[in-house]
Amino acid sequence: MALRHFLTLMDLSPQELAYLIDRSITIKRELAENGPVYTPLKNRTLAMIFEKSSTRTRVSFETGMTQFGGHALFLSPRDSQLGRGEPVGDTARVLSEMVDAVMIRTFSHESIESFADASSIPVINALSDDYHPCQLLADMQTWTECRGPVKGKTAVWVGDGNNMCHSWINAARQFDFHLRIACPEGFEPDQDILEAAGSRVKIVRDPLAAAEGAHLITTDVWASMGQEEEQAARMASFKGFQVNEAMLDAADDDVMFLHCLPAHRGEEVSETLLDDPRAFVWQEAGNRLHAQKALLEFLMVGRID
Ligand code: CP
Ligand code: NVA
Repeated sequence: MALRHFLTLMDLSPQELAYLIDRSITIKRELAENGPVYTPLKNRTLAMIFEKSSTRTRVSFETGMTQFGGHALFLSPRDSQLGRGEPVGDTARVLSEMVDAVMIRTFSHESIESFADASSIPVINALSDDYHPCQLLADMQTWTECRGPVKGKTAVWVGDGNNMCHSWINAARQFDFHLRIACPEGFEPDQDILEAAGSRVKIVRDPLAAAEGAHLITTDVWASMGQEEEQAARMASFKGFQVNEAMLDAADDDVMFLHCLPAHRGEEVSETLLDDPRAFVWQEAGNRLHAQKALLEFLMVGRID
């Protein structure tokens, strides 16, 4: 089987991504009907390197490997040699001798690329400063299972032009939908990532205007992991960019709200937004499990057609 990595959504073709979304919906249904009896990764091991905190990503990858009959191994810089300066390339070569795939959550995206360059097993980006592609698999699954095909629809990103925003831009390219980005001046997404998406992605400064008629609205924290010291300044810069019920009222009648979580009530979302019937954030979080199981199967076993 040819070696494949999943560092951004651009590593798979639109057809492969569509397959993964279908497959994640099937995997979820079969788990609900039959329990965890499908074990395609029996005796396989996923190494999980976390240089940043996580709840959903760790639990979903670890549970997914268990349900598939395999094992997941948690590694952090604090208690591995990575924290004592062993180069990522050397770590990649060593892990390639022992485990079957690696998942990495880190700061610099280049360090995941260096890891993948030296690896002879699949490498999965579980969040870098620049991208969070696994989250987008769950988001596209959630949107599709709740509202059908997403092609041609309109999503709105409100807030920081961060790693999640970049992955939404890539999703707009790969799944062929429109994306409006409402961000304050100075917090735009990377210009190259934006330009590569062409006319389907636009910056619309006013969040309420951006929301008009939209099929999906999404946001994220104002200060990402690693930006803790900027928290106070960012609170001021993002004033007026809170997603609230009025914003959803301006959207399509069937609008959905998504948030990768964790959320800060009273900051990027109103106190009550996550409880609104138009918010699908718990289903979205749960879909991390199913979408990543589809990804693990695809990278380690191949397509099940
Ligand atoms: N959405 C997400 O990646 O959550 P965690 O940081 O809890 O893994
Ligand atoms: N943008 C956030 C996403 C967390 C899942 C961060 O990088 O901290």
